[in-house]
Amino acid sequence: MYSKIIGTGSYFPDRIISNTDLEKMVDTSDDWITSRTGVKQRHVASDSQLTSDLAYEASIKAITNAGIKANDIDMIIVGTCTPDLIFPNVGTILQEKLGIRGIPSFSLEAACTGFIYALTTADQYIRTGHTNRVLVVGAEVISRILDWQDRETCVLFGDGAGAVIIEASEEPGIIYSNLASDGSYKDLLYASGGLPSKKGVFEDTAIHMKGNEVFKVAVKTLGNMVDEVLKKNNLSKSDIDWLVPHQANLRIIKAAAKKLDMPMEKVIVTVHEHANTSAATIPSALDVAIQDGRIKRGDLLLLEAFGAGFTWGSTLVRY
Ligand code: ACO
Repeated sequence: MYSKIIGTGSYFPDRIISNTDLEKMVDTSDDWITSRTGVKQRHVASDSQLTSDLAYEASIKAITNAGIKANDIDMIIVGTCTPDLIFPNVGTILQEKLGIRGIPSFSLEAACTGFIYALTTADQYIRTGHTNRVLVVGAEVISRILDWQDRETCVLFGDGAGAVIIEASEEPGIIYSNLASDGSYKDLLYASGGLPSKKGVFEDTAIHMKGNEVFKVAVKTLGNMVDEVLKKNNLSKSDIDWLVPHQANLRIIKAAAKKLDMPMEKVIVTVHEHANTSAATIPSALDVAIQDGRIKRGDLLLLEAFGAGFTWGSTLVRY
């Protein structure tokens, strides 16, 4: 038994902050941001929008595109590092918004690799026959944990959501997944806040990052991962039709594409429009490329992500 993607959806808040807008907020320039990251603008949630709201909008589109009803879903898994609350988890909040009852719903946190972790988990439930149809979401309001005075981080991120519905199928589907992590890299990229020793939870939440070092490990790790995926599946580089990478930085994406000898026309890039939306980048980029007709049924896709932890993972999908 395999799991197959039957519908996708994405959502980005209406408010857009361009690089030029950011020039008025911190000491930066459109030139610097564009040349170092590829980002031109980011969407930012309104004060009243939470991660579950973005997840809901993307999920409704995925449900519609899959041609099913919300009640046909057997399980919800949300990858996010910006949950609405400490508890209940975003999965259950989303479940209530979708009007579904009684199914297992949970969220998991693996930063920018959150969607790959969620998709792999969902795939395991389907492969073992436990579950028939899973709504898998990556959704974030990263804007809420940014220090908007810190030019080294605030220029990189945005808010958004992507949703995918996978269903049991005798044909692949998801062919192969791998997940990994190395907690020794925690200090290179983390968000403070959480449950520190003092009261006043989340008061000083901010992303702390040694960007240059993150960059180097990301490029090396993603390169090794691509080699491993090809080797384990007896594939050659030219077998992959589309690379759907995590959208952290155009230079990291280009390095992964180079490793695959893949022209950039075969790489789905949304970082210029959406910036890094953490767990939401891959499902939303996938949705963008399916809706605009680039990704077609039968294409072989490689999804790959790298994020805080460090965590990393990839999924090989026959769409
Ligand atoms: N505008 C203008 N100048 C800036 C800005 C800015 N927004 N930010 C930093 N600078 C300055 C620095 O202060 C530094 O100045 P100095 O030379 O006078 O000291 C200079 O620009 C160069 O800084 P570097 O950090 O060396 O620049 P680099 O080329 O490494 O680019 C970047 C920085 C874009 C952050 C890059 O390292 C990167 O993309 N790293 C990966 C980050 C990433 O992907 N993070 C997300 C991971 S996934 C997750 O889970 C969240």
